[in-house]
Amino acid sequence: MGEASGDILLFPYPLQGHINPMIQFSKRLSKKGFTVKLIIASNNHREPYTSDDYSITVHTIHDGFFPHEHPNAKFQDPNRFIESTTRSLADFISREKLSDNPPKALIYDPFVSFALDVGKALGLYVVAYFTQPWLASLIYYHIKEGTYDVPIDKHENPILASFPGFPLLSQNDLPSFACEKGSYPLLHDGVVSQFSNLRQADCILCNTFDQLEPKVVKWMDDQWPVKNIGPVVPSKFLDNRLPEDKDYELGDSNTEPDESILSWLEKKPAKSVVYVAFGTLVALSDKQMKETAMAIKQTGYNFLWSVRDTERSKLPSGFVEEALEKDCGLVAKWVPQLEVLAHDSVGCFVTHCGWNSTLEALCLGVPLVGMPQWTDQPTNAKFIEDVWKIGLRVKTDGNGDGFVSKEEIARCVVEVMEGEKGKEMRKNVEKFKVLAREAISEGGSSDKSIDEFVAILS
Ligand code: UDX
Repeated sequence: MGEASGDILLFPYPLQGHINPMIQFSKRLSKKGFTVKLIIASNNHREPYTSDDYSITVHTIHDGFFPHEHPNAKFQDPNRFIESTTRSLADFISREKLSDNPPKALIYDPFVSFALDVGKALGLYVVAYFTQPWLASLIYYHIKEGTYDVPIDKHENPILASFPGFPLLSQNDLPSFACEKGSYPLLHDGVVSQFSNLRQADCILCNTFDQLEPKVVKWMDDQWPVKNIGPVVPSKFLDNRLPEDKDYELGDSNTEPDESILSWLEKKPAKSVVYVAFGTLVALSDKQMKETAMAIKQTGYNFLWSVRDTERSKLPSGFVEEALEKDCGLVAKWVPQLEVLAHDSVGCFVTHCGWNSTLEALCLGVPLVGMPQWTDQPTNAKFIEDVWKIGLRVKTDGNGDGFVSKEEIARCVVEVMEGEKGKEMRKNVEKFKVLAREAISEGGSSDKSIDEFVAILS
């Protein structure tokens, strides 16, 4: 395809779980002939770099913080982040407008809704791209607008609220920032402001697909015309007709995956391995990490666990060594998650239910054990267990600290791996795998939405 005129700028929320789906969408746009510039707000300036296989250049802009400050400082000081980043983004766009190939559109994550105002003020076509599912984003919306019902007696009836298009939800099923500000005001302010200026957006996209959350999508579509373009999982994992899409790692992580992981999986029987990973952000308590390790050990299954360096010291002493010695388990600081989920040896995925992990498991047909921690994860877990029926959610011990016992984790893992319910879940997740592939294949709902979007921009 020839080069489409005018660069497309993409401005993700500066967290890996939000940057990844922007990168994947950038690749689709690049394949359609657009030149894409990905803008990352950071406290650490890097020279722009361009990927070899795609017309995508990554740029950093200053977020108002400095390398000597704690990486989480920006989440505690929303004003400084928003003021500085607004200025840096406006400067960046203004400079780009003077270039030989001035930008025509800005695609932003609604967690940074101020980007919409900046793009509009500078005359761009501005597109909101929701990287979290409607089922979380709309709860924030309904709570802010008061457009939901609360049963009269919350104590006798554990159901808290009924939102349009949703099953009845209890407090435990709501995204964490729905009820409290928490210790990251930037995140809280971001999620509750997503819809504040959305009417000004020229187009609205979401990393989901129509058949996955149809009632919620319908409600959303009646208010704002939306285009669901997901799952933006790399096409090589969805469609064998696109084998050239191999460089899915572009900037996805700062950590190189360990190639020996796949050869270890090769030696394991089909559906014998429990894959455990809690995404790029979640930090379990010491106690919960040890309990999870004991649960996995207790089940006796082979396991592969992605544990970031900062989390590793929380594992019980000797746990990693013993597993290696018995050749029943592997702990790695970063794994090629899509390849792992696509591997025949993997029988279930113990996950925090981050949206990317959820979509990836669904696209690759792997049933789940959900251990949601915060943000959208509890709502995703509710849908995993009760709506899509593709996994189980562990139950906390009821002391209010969110702790889950090893017996409970082991019970869920065993049920998903080999119980009767597990068999049903495997069938259900296979159905969603087919639906996800249909949505993104030529002529599917998401594919059509992308084509319509590209036609607008061309
Ligand atoms: C964050 C939020 O926590 C999540 O709830 C929200 O939906 C998106 O933003 P994160 O916690 O990182 O994301 O989880 P998730 O959305 O699952 O994304 C993790 C990504 O990292 C996935 O694409 C996964 O494939 C990748 N990953 C993680 C690896 O490739 N290897 C690893 O070892 C761990």
